[in-house]
Amino acid sequence: MSTIQTTKVRHFLTLMDFSKKELSLLIQRAIELKRAWKQGKHYEPMKNQTLAMIFEKSSTRTRVSFEAGMTQLGGHAMFLSPNDTQLGRGEPVEDAARVISRMVDVVMIRTYAHETVEKFAAYSKVPVINALTDSYHPCQLLADMMTYVEQRGSIAGKTVTYVGDGNNMCHSWMNAARQFDFHLNIACPEGYDPDQDLCLELGDQISIIRDTRLAAKNSDLVVTDVWASMGQEEEQKIRERAFANFQVNAEIMACANPDALFMHCLPAHREEEVTTEVLEGNQSVVWEEAENRLHAQKALLEALVIGFPIQ
Ligand code: CP
Ligand code: NVA
Repeated sequence: MSTIQTTKVRHFLTLMDFSKKELSLLIQRAIELKRAWKQGKHYEPMKNQTLAMIFEKSSTRTRVSFEAGMTQLGGHAMFLSPNDTQLGRGEPVEDAARVISRMVDVVMIRTYAHETVEKFAAYSKVPVINALTDSYHPCQLLADMMTYVEQRGSIAGKTVTYVGDGNNMCHSWMNAARQFDFHLNIACPEGYDPDQDLCLELGDQISIIRDTRLAAKNSDLVVTDVWASMGQEEEQKIRERAFANFQVNAEIMACANPDALFMHCLPAHREEEVTTEVLEGNQSVVWEEAENRLHAQKALLEALVIGFPIQ
């Protein structure tokens, strides 16, 4: 890598916060950092720096990858749960943002309303990363794009089929379609469509198709997500009925191109949105995808705190 370009404070709340060029650099950098780490090379540019991790929802991958990532970069990650901070007792987000951001170098937030991360970012002196809201999960897409590039090369011009709820993952896949130039088929039941405004912005770059087989036809990548997201647990039974025809199984994978990959952000509910056969099958790259959260987010932390590499 050559010299570093320093910029004023940048946030990563959706994939749209970075340019296409920046995202492409980030993916390349993530692949580079992964290689270096596996070769045993230590790179610790974040020595003495702290990441505050605010989790208002559960997490395995996001917490472990950000925490391990900060350790590998030579810094420290601090886990903050609303139960143990004043946020859980009603301290306003704008106050928490002004205080926390005077003490740490970067903040990561997983919460419900997207407006919460926007408000935090508006009052923060340091970069803020969206680690999942009800509307978007951009960090997951960095790992997903990195995984596709590693396995198959550029995703530009390809067809991706997203099967399931028009939720935070679906919205981030839509943003990825714009930023990485692929076509996105969305197979979802009526009543569970993604955000209308976003659909209008995407125009003919997305196709909403009610028939999962038809949607998967000729696609290069099939992805899915849980039917009931965090916060929707009480809708589980209703959703099981609504999504019964929106399962990724061997029959659906057979409609896709023979070399199509399968991805899932995880955690997965086997025999609901995906069968065990597909999840554990040879087209599935879910474990590589999960591992890549670590490497992609190291590249993200480096870009936000230190600066984007110039190429
Ligand atoms: N995919 C993902 O974000 O996983 P966690 O909920 O375990 O962080
Ligand atoms: N849509 C899921 C993604 C989990 C990583 C949720 O929000 O629970």
